[in-house]
Amino acid sequence: MVTATLTEVAKFLRPGITTAQIDEMADTFIRDNGGVPSFKGYHGYPAALCISVNEVVVHGIPGSYELQDGDIVSVDCGVYMNGFHGDHAYTFGIGNVKPEVLTLMRVTKESLMLGVAQASANNRVGDISYAVEHFTSKVHKYGVVRELVGHGVGRKLHEDPQVPNYGRRGDGKRLKEGMVLAIEPMINLGVRDVYTKEDGWTVVTADGKPSAHYEHTTVVRKGRGEALSNFAPIEAAEQANTELNSSYYKEETTTA
Ligand code: MF3
Ligand code: CO
Repeated sequence: MVTATLTEVAKFLRPGITTAQIDEMADTFIRDNGGVPSFKGYHGYPAALCISVNEVVVHGIPGSYELQDGDIVSVDCGVYMNGFHGDHAYTFGIGNVKPEVLTLMRVTKESLMLGVAQASANNRVGDISYAVEHFTSKVHKYGVVRELVGHGVGRKLHEDPQVPNYGRRGDGKRLKEGMVLAIEPMINLGVRDVYTKEDGWTVVTADGKPSAHYEHTTVVRKGRGEALSNFAPIEAAEQANTELNSSYYKEETTTA
């Protein structure tokens, strides 16, 4: 259900729509399909989705902001259905995104998949954390956000253990087959420092540079972890939508 929702979001995105319009569409889609948005009302959070544009890291509240060519948009979606929560996030590009920002998005997504691979029975939480941190901050020189972490997910949205995106191999709780974890790297183009805005939710980078966020609901398995959420349909919809909107974006390119 979380993947189906983000696939709908992928089809819906274009310059000029507001983040509140995206949220409204997703809220309706989730309920029409028998789910309940997990985030709405969670500690007073006011919307179905978190929509975090550019320098917003996570927990952006949907509102009147209109998407523009060149923006990146992290959309985080939680759905409660059949007694369990799913938690899933994807960062989309709108039109002509700067190459260095596209690379940030690709590397963040890859770091998530490296983390998922480490969700292996008898590994420890730190093996996931290290995989994400090493690839993003050592191989690439990005800022790894420390103030927010991944988490267990199941009958409750947030369960033990915490899953930081930084740490050491072999540290932390041992992973057992069947445990379900939300692994969610939040990676900044610049410094790792973030702060929370006056609204109490919106987390932004300290230097104002963009940040990417991808998240999979992941089951611990023997050998390697298995993502229950799936980027393939989202990516297919993203591709089709980009082609659909390409005439709009082309005009922008000629002026660049
Ligand atoms: N996916 C986010 C998280 O993992 C969303 C929480 S937003 C909230 O923790 F509104 F629900 F708090
Ligand atoms: Co989460």
